[in-house]
Amino acid sequence: MNLILMGLPGAGKGTQAEKINDKYNIPHISTGDMFRLSIKEGTDLGKQAKEYMDQGELVPDEVTIGIVRERLNKEDCRNGFLLDGFPRTIAQAESLEEILTEMNEAIDYCIHVEVPEEKLVERLTGRRICPTCGTTYHVMYHPPQEEGKCDKDGSQLIQRDDDKPETVKNRLAVNLEQTKPLLDFYEDKGYLVTVDGDQEIDHVFQDIQSKIDK
Ligand code: AP5
Ligand code: MG
Repeated sequence: MNLILMGLPGAGKGTQAEKINDKYNIPHISTGDMFRLSIKEGTDLGKQAKEYMDQGELVPDEVTIGIVRERLNKEDCRNGFLLDGFPRTIAQAESLEEILTEMNEAIDYCIHVEVPEEKLVERLTGRRICPTCGTTYHVMYHPPQEEGKCDKDGSQLIQRDDDKPETVKNRLAVNLEQTKPLLDFYEDKGYLVTVDGDQEIDHVFQDIQSKIDK
């Protein structure tokens, strides 16, 4: 199954991706995670991406499309994949169509996780992540068993650099502008399914399952 997860910052893409990955065993490809890893490793790509991410701006299309093309061409994507946070512009969506045509593949579903804008700031500023395994928590909605520690490996949880209130505002503005044309793009292609992301995490996942298991 070839899936796209779409939604505004904080909508729960990463959270649902963990669950989809557990159940359907398809690789989770998050461009945001790929950029964060490059930043951690201090690569040229990381240095380039960091400038944009710290401002809440999008990394330029040619850079982003390049890393996704490379990733999709890996063997493990032959049995399906889950894109999280890509595409985010029409140019990226069009390039994705080309890449998939070359691979003789197509998207099955573009899952739009819809959450009212006013809920997102609280979700983003309360998010904590494990720097070791990447698991996502929320101080109120999805707390770890022991405060500040990852349930899986005990690492000290951290806050993402771009979850500081100044950056969150611009990220939301940038993404709001980009999202509508993308939803129209996938609606026109007949791939779009929308789920209500403003419910408990497990209920959102049940809704996703009921749409993609059809
Ligand atoms: P990226 O890492 O993709 O960030 P984003 O799109 O801003 O989305 P987030 O990861 O912040 O949110 P999410 O939807 O995954 O929510 P989560 O599950 O964590 O991108 C970061 C940056 O990289 C971009 O700003 C850009 O600079 C660059 N970039 C990435 N892709 C790019 C591209 N294609 N083109 C150009 N640039 C690109 O959940 C959020 C919080 O809410 C968590 O604390 C979670 O526990 C909680 N939560 C989740 N679900 C629920 C629920 N149902 N109820 C209550 N709380 C919930
Ligand atoms: Mg995410």
